[in-house]
Amino acid sequence: MVWTAIEYLRDAQNRSFKIKIYNKCRQCESSVVQQIEENERLMKLRSDYNERVVLNHQELPWVESSEPGVTRRMLERDGDEVARATSIVKYAPGSKFASHTHDFGEEILVLDGVFSDETGEYATGNYIMNPPGSSHAPYSTTGCTLFVKLRHLGPEQTQREVVDTTTAPWLQGIAAGLHVMPLMRQGSGSTLVRWAPQTTFSPHRHYGGEEIFVVRGTFEDEHGRYPEGSWIRSPHLSLHQPFSKEGCIIFVKTGHLPIPA
Ligand SMILES: [Fe+2]
Ligand SMILES: [Fe+2]
Repeated sequence: MVWTAIEYLRDAQNRSFKIKIYNKCRQCESSVVQQIEENERLMKLRSDYNERVVLNHQELPWVESSEPGVTRRMLERDGDEVARATSIVKYAPGSKFASHTHDFGEEILVLDGVFSDETGEYATGNYIMNPPGSSHAPYSTTGCTLFVKLRHLGPEQTQREVVDTTTAPWLQGIAAGLHVMPLMRQGSGSTLVRWAPQTTFSPHRHYGGEEIFVVRGTFEDEHGRYPEGSWIRSPHLSLHQPFSKEGCIIFVKTGHLPIPA
């Protein structure tokens, strides 16, 4: 068990622990066990898709990643074989992340700053979908904050998609006061929805669930009020009647959550 946990530790810690554990340091063994528990906790975080989850990332702590200067707030993580994760990721100015391949794809929305990789520079408001099998080495010269969904895409997503949401057109939605901007058009898709102040939508049920990240303003329904930075994951067949008194912009995915057998 101890040696399994050591695999999770960062290199410097790893070497130090190995030496001490060789010397039978009980305190180190107990630290490693704590690290196991912490890793297990992190690998399964809000991963029961049958439960409704509401949180605001601004209330969560920043947790170090494996790369210096890159920190994250974990919204959900399922560390099973097909690991999914949704996070807010912050790059300090001048930080970078090692080159990596997205086995099951990646979606990124730049919340502030400028995010870069070898394909270009993406300022606040840019959306990027990197399909399964793609790879890149991201960095940020001036720093940035991102909303990131990882390892949740499949064979229906084959083409990289990039949308600059500050310049792409808004389309009329199916109710007065609603405008939509398609982001990922492949598979179940991702959409930005703009609510004019005092807009109400009809009651509806979510087949395959619904996930919302509030980019700006305040979104509401009969269950609560969700200011900027809120993340709401509603399970398969959940029901609500959303509205917005002050107006808002939300990132929305529907029909993408596992359907219970
Ligand atoms: Fe990536
Ligand atoms: Fe909904």
